[in-house]
Amino acid sequence: MAAIAAIFDQLPAGSVIVLPDDGYQGVGGLAQAGASHGRWTVRRLTVTDTAGWVAACASADLIWLESMSNPLLAVPDLDIICAAPRKRGAILAVDNTFATPLNQRPLALGADLAMQSVTKFIGGHSDLLGGVVTAREPRLVAALRQARGLAGATPGTLETFLAVRGARTLALRLERAQRNAMQLAERLAQHPNVELTRYPGLPSHPTHEAARRLLDGFGTIICFDVRGTAAVADAVCGGLRLIQHATSLGAVESTIERRARVPGQEHLPPSLLRLSVGIEAVEDLWRDLDHALRDAAARG
Ligand SMILES: Cc1ncc(COP(=O)(O)O)c(C=O)c1O
Repeated sequence: MAAIAAIFDQLPAGSVIVLPDDGYQGVGGLAQAGASHGRWTVRRLTVTDTAGWVAACASADLIWLESMSNPLLAVPDLDIICAAPRKRGAILAVDNTFATPLNQRPLALGADLAMQSVTKFIGGHSDLLGGVVTAREPRLVAALRQARGLAGATPGTLETFLAVRGARTLALRLERAQRNAMQLAERLAQHPNVELTRYPGLPSHPTHEAARRLLDGFGTIICFDVRGTAAVADAVCGGLRLIQHATSLGAVESTIERRARVPGQEHLPPSLLRLSVGIEAVEDLWRDLDHALRDAAARG
């Protein structure tokens, strides 16, 4: 989050920020806080409104996108948006946390900045907090480094050690977790107690074509709507034994959360569960999910 704040610090007073309508709520909160102090104005665009994003590039000062949106996993047409002419001095930033640098490299697509929450996939073991920003322009790197120093957000040696150690196994962890995610998504999509499964790797996903074009892998996050009420979805979370009920994601262990129960996320479908798939044996994960789904449905 400190990495994101350093990017927002770069904006001159009176800037225009364009954010996706679906995205990490921390960014929305940061943008709203600055707007309420008159630092900038915020506009929201649907992730898939490519023409809208192209137009925004010509007038906005910060264009913020996620390689796939959190939590609905919509994949923006980044190649087209990055190629659009930008207002002089504008920053096009991509939060690449969900894709990881192994599945997408926003700078190569033409973004000015890419950021990753190292807390998630790069660390991979839920034991550190950190973020990384990469930029093409040395001027921007220097400005971000200065903002980091002024805010005191310099990472400690233990966090840095854990991040580098995590990065060494990222490829292996991602490969395994992605394979698990694909299998679970296919099975969830057929499950009688699941209303809707969202995973960019499924042909039924609204941005499957963009995902195939722009990502080297479909990631490890699946969002699915449990058939029934929010209470039934809560019962699914409560009934899981192997999959942990937690907010964070991107770790070796699978985690799940009903997002609409989080303050500020009430606009999401009430029974939507965000599942971050880990590296456990896929049959163990499936047994856990299937049992919790059937049990919660039977209890009503
Ligand atoms: C897409 C995305 N970006 C950034 C962050 C911020 O991560 P951190 O926990 O490292 O502050 C999160 C946290 O959930 C996230 O989901």
